Amino acid sequence: MDKLVVNGAKELSGSVEISGAKNAVLPLMAATLLTEGEHSINRVPDLKDTRTFLNLLEMLGAKSTYNNGDLLVDSSTINSVEAPYDLVKTMRASFYVMGPLLGRFGEARVSLPGGCAWGPRPVDYHLKGFENLGAEIILEKGYIIARAKKLKGALIHFDIPSVGATANILMASVLAEGKTQITNAAIEPHIVQLCEVLNEMGAHIEGVGSNILFVNGVEKLSPMKVETIPDMIEAGTFLIAGATLGNITLKKVDPTHLNIVIRKLEQAGCELVVNDNSITVNKCDKLQPVDMTTDVHPGFPTDLQAQWVALMSVANGSSHITDTIYHDRFAHVPELIRLGADISLNKNMALIRGPKKLKGAQVMSTDIRASASLLIGALIAEGESEISRIYHIDRGYEKIEEKFKLLGADIRRENG
Ligand code: UD1
Repeated sequence: MDKLVVNGAKELSGSVEISGAKNAVLPLMAATLLTEGEHSINRVPDLKDTRTFLNLLEMLGAKSTYNNGDLLVDSSTINSVEAPYDLVKTMRASFYVMGPLLGRFGEARVSLPGGCAWGPRPVDYHLKGFENLGAEIILEKGYIIARAKKLKGALIHFDIPSVGATANILMASVLAEGKTQITNAAIEPHIVQLCEVLNEMGAHIEGVGSNILFVNGVEKLSPMKVETIPDMIEAGTFLIAGATLGNITLKKVDPTHLNIVIRKLEQAGCELVVNDNSITVNKCDKLQPVDMTTDVHPGFPTDLQAQWVALMSVANGSSHITDTIYHDRFAHVPELIRLGADISLNKNMALIRGPKKLKGAQVMSTDIRASASLLIGALIAEGESEISRIYHIDRGYEKIEEKFKLLGADIRRENG
């Protein structure tokens, strides 16, 4: 198993190009199942998760080529509607194939995703939504089987604006008969891109960008041609690293996706220069503590909570960080404590007492974003750190150690 070895406390400087967004490209890849023909997606990050999804598309019968970020998927040859346990257990987003398979073929068989490192992550909104659209849902041997002769438009409301359920129900409803209304829909930038792409494929979705989506079902769609939006979570991770490690310019980024992160960094005392497609963050010498509560977009993303905890551990004072989306998402805390951070947990709130001098240690990553937080901790810490189980970071960050190395970090990947 690979690990990262980091010699910390090195000043970083330079620029880094942000990759296409993992959380945007996965639903786009799922949407290629909606219609036959050759789909083209550019700026596809080379990640474990995109490779897993490609594998899944091929198991369903699609043909694909992936070259230098350019992905072609031909979904004319789909001959299976089953997403097997072995794939779904490694990546919950495999569940995204359910909506398009159900919409196009009237049937999908997808292994029920289990829990994850930060507790149970139900799919009840997805299933309730498919049922509302007229599908029959049964659970058999750990698989959800959904069937419908023809989906019918319906009113669907989510108690919490779920990103996954919004994407999945949207993909099913674009081929349903009649009108669907989704209320309390997620409005994350990747949902907006999915709506825009579906419309370009011939779907009729109104209200794009708002939390009420109106879908007028169509008979048929045509293949997509799209460039994936920049990864706001990767960008946020580099911004947070720069706040305490050096002057870093992010290129090919969309600053409008990062308003809240930019504002929080400014509150912490950082100077940022924001242009249309780039952001420069300058190291802040006296970082101020800033409380933060995660929220759905445009709130502070839960996917940057762990990284913010790492940053606040070296701020000059105490801060409170609350995760309202995933109450148990704090597996990074005991590991950051191993690096010397002073953090206590009370339910879904972390109290971080800064500033602490972080010192290199062996730590273990538990999920994608927790690993990014440990990497920031290790880059700040004096001396050598080893981050094990780095396969988690490879699921969601493209060439992470190469990008940090180019900025001047002393970091290497080792086997074992
Ligand atoms: C997506 C992201 C993940 C991010 C999360 C929140 C992808 C591939 N993953 O995950 O990185 O952390 O959004 O921004 O895009 N919920 C239910 N029932 C459901 C669905 C969700 O109760 O059927 C709850 C969840 O437990 C959670 C909240 O709704 O508390 C939001 O989850 P959701 O937006 O669905 O997250 P994912 O789409 O799984």
